[in-house]
Amino acid sequence: MKVLVTGGTGYIGSHTLIDLIENGYDVVCADNGCNSDTSSLLAIEKITGVKVPYFHIDLCDLSGAETIFKSHPDIQGVIHFAALKAVGESVEKPIQYFRNNIDSLINTLDLCLKYDVKAFIFSSSCTVYGDVSSSPVDENTPLQEAASPYGRTKQIGEQIITDTIKNKSLKSILLRYFNPAGAHPSGHLGESPINPPQNLVPVITETAIGKRNSMTVYGDDYPTRDGSCVRDYIHVCDLAHAHTLALNYIFEGLQSIQTEIFNVGIGNGLTVLEIIRAFEKVSGEKLNYQIGGRRPGDIMAIYSDYRKAKNLLGWNPKYNVNDIMHTAWLWEKNRSNPK
Ligand code: NAD
Ligand code: WQD
Repeated sequence: MKVLVTGGTGYIGSHTLIDLIENGYDVVCADNGCNSDTSSLLAIEKITGVKVPYFHIDLCDLSGAETIFKSHPDIQGVIHFAALKAVGESVEKPIQYFRNNIDSLINTLDLCLKYDVKAFIFSSSCTVYGDVSSSPVDENTPLQEAASPYGRTKQIGEQIITDTIKNKSLKSILLRYFNPAGAHPSGHLGESPINPPQNLVPVITETAIGKRNSMTVYGDDYPTRDGSCVRDYIHVCDLAHAHTLALNYIFEGLQSIQTEIFNVGIGNGLTVLEIIRAFEKVSGEKLNYQIGGRRPGDIMAIYSDYRKAKNLLGWNPKYNVNDIMHTAWLWEKNRSNPK
């Protein structure tokens, strides 16, 4: 069974390529390199022994994107990771985010229908829930107003997919990721973005290794256990495996409706300060941080109810926060001082 992974040289896409290969899928990767490079494909080859066929293509270019399907007309499944993902940047450059994330999605869907693809998995996000009043959230929790153009592209993306494939043979799964973090346990692969990371865990490891002098905890005056925000951190390899299970679910004929939605988090809400303490414990490093003001747009707390993914997909996350910190730190040390 052949699967196209768009955005496949990026952080979650590259880990998913490994999981797919280890579970017997043939894979093809497409990316335009706007936030990654092909070093992840070398790491994948080192880990799995498989050289992944790669198309350096901008999916906003429909005819360019079609060359993938012309070369691989036997693609049965598509996992669509390709997107811009920086929340703050999307507020500055909404048109760029709408154009990139929506055009690339529409083109990919168009080609899926034209080439009779059977399964489409979409990278959605917990950001679609907006500023929720309580957690855990399940898939039926009503969506609030999106807090950013980025979040809006995920809400619109979910709707576009649902409407487009109605009454078609293509089935889709929308995976709403919570806070992906950590790296491959081999130490050969992890998050390596071209643009400076803004997410908490890479900010922590970059501070600890000395790439940043210090970091800021955005607020300790929220009504939470210790005043800092609560999130649901999920190891990238657990997240990657959810994609393989989602494809299996469709290919095994288990999905009766056109579009299913699954939360992918581990249901364990941790505060920013708890994450910092977990890092310090696992790494033995003292982190240079200060408490700052709240970050505009941050919500106080969100974590998942993931029972649907557990019950229907058979998804059982294996990694905890210490594993996230251990692998993220191993990766940071390896990429900063390559052997
Ligand atoms: P990433 O930036 O590492 O990967 C995205 C990849 O898509 C990059 O390699 C980029 O070069 C590529 N890309 C972007 N636009 C493209 C285009 N027009 N054509 C071809 N390639 C293009 O990000 P990631 O963390 O791996 O995220 C993957 C997906 O998961 C994204 O859709 C993101 O919105 C979503 N997501 C991420 C998180 C997170 O915190 N990392 C959380 C929820 C959802
Ligand atoms: C986590 C917590 C920050 C950096 C974002 C997107 C969401 C999804 C995941 C894509 C927050 C705090 C962070 C720092 C800090 N992505 N923090 N100092 O904001 O939960 O979610 O990524 O879909 O859509 O919004 O993740 O890692 O940026 O922040 O104190 O230097 O860490 O305030 O409480 P977030 P994050």
